[in-house]
Amino acid sequence: MGHKRDDWNRKYQERGSQQFQPEVYLVQNVHRLRPSSVVEVACGDGRNALYLCRQGFDVTGVDFSEEGIARLCRFAAAENLKLRTQVMDAEDTFALAALGVFDNAIFIHYKPSVETFRAVASLLRPQGILLMTSFNRQHLIESPHFSSDLCYENEEFLYADGSLEVLEYVSYTDDRGWLDGYIFRKLVP
Ligand SMILES: C[S@@+](CC[C@H](N)C(=O)[O-])C[C@H]1O[C@@H](n2cnc3c(N)ncnc32)[C@H](O)[C@@H]1O
Repeated sequence: MGHKRDDWNRKYQERGSQQFQPEVYLVQNVHRLRPSSVVEVACGDGRNALYLCRQGFDVTGVDFSEEGIARLCRFAAAENLKLRTQVMDAEDTFALAALGVFDNAIFIHYKPSVETFRAVASLLRPQGILLMTSFNRQHLIESPHFSSDLCYENEEFLYADGSLEVLEYVSYTDDRGWLDGYIFRKLVP
């Protein structure tokens, strides 16, 4: 994990002061989220977390990159947006369990292990929404040098957690390539 974290810290250090646009799949589906809290796991420097704050959500953003979280905090302060952040390893399921309970959770351009996927699903209130999107197998076939740890296998998360029902599973393309999007709803026990 050390190398990967260093790589991400370097990427965020080298990024200019510009904030990236939120993920289109999230913007298109934000109406499907429930009020009012959302956790973004692997939030980076926060383009999605900041967008959700502006939409009125009570946002928690976590990432293992101190530089990413520091940038997110600077962006938030500049807009006077309030959110919670935490530097943590998203693959540490004990640390995830300590985050609390949420109405929604998102993974954007992050591929969790199945353990982390389930740990995040278990943070959701009944009927809570889990939205995720990242590059897929087709993207890797077309761009073999692309980072495979960001690419979902076909149907990888479709049946990964019995406490979730699938509202949507789509493969789509945008100007960056091929992606898979999922929207799940937590079942009422
Ligand atoms: C492609 S970026 C996406 C960031 C953000 N979700 C977005 O859409 O802009 C992947 C992020 O995952 C984070 N990351 C990778 N492995 C992680 C881990 N084990 N725990 C926490 N964050 C991790 C990186 O620091 C980076 O910010």
